[in-house]
Amino acid sequence: MGGILIAIDGPAGSGKSSVAREVARRLGVVDISTGAVYRAVALVALEEGVDHADEEGLVRIARKMELAPGGVRYDGRWISGEELHAPEVSGVASRVSVHSGVREVLLPVQRRAAEEARRAGGAVVEGRDIGTVVLPEADLKVFLSASTEERARRRALQSGMESELDEVRRAIMLRDRRDTERESAPLRPAPDAVVLDTTDMGFEEVVEKITALARRRSGSSAGG
Ligand code: DC
Repeated sequence: MGGILIAIDGPAGSGKSSVAREVARRLGVVDISTGAVYRAVALVALEEGVDHADEEGLVRIARKMELAPGGVRYDGRWISGEELHAPEVSGVASRVSVHSGVREVLLPVQRRAAEEARRAGGAVVEGRDIGTVVLPEADLKVFLSASTEERARRRALQSGMESELDEVRRAIMLRDRRDTERESAPLRPAPDAVVLDTTDMGFEEVVEKITALARRRSGSSAGG
């Protein structure tokens, strides 16, 4: 039993995290950003001088990660969102996430966080492989996409880098390539996901659409 589980996947800059946060708020459930745990592995690797190609070293770090709706804990220490979102961490996180050994260790970490949140009332869980691998049994799966140009524009705006649009676009394209072409759990929509191209949609429209879908799903499962 428990509440609804919603999976939201999509590429960098698709609006996943802000959409997930707002949908969760409207439904009165928590939101979990699974990218945080990959980012945390990247951050600690940078701090401890572990190379992003050193799978064994990265796995050792991943084993000490805990994920909760409030954030990530490494070896008992909470890591702040600010640290996790430094630009150099984003690039290393996508490199770290290609290793199947790292993904294997982080899989139960993400499932545990989602399961606890579901028991406590429900969750919106966002990432790259939530609908396909982490929570294939999610009640609702959404895949958010948008054109590269629009995603670069949103990212640049969000991080105050409007004057460096070319650089932001390049970084996004690099991450897209790594995230979609990796062998282990690549970024792609689950066969039963609702795919939303948000290029020409406003934030409110996207949030409203997902919230309505979620209400419909939880209404029908509660009724049955
Ligand atoms: O969503 P984000 O930008 O915080 O994610 C950072 C990186 O982590 C992303 O480039 C790929 C990886 N990631 C992943 O491989 N699987 C997930 N479920 C979430 C993130």
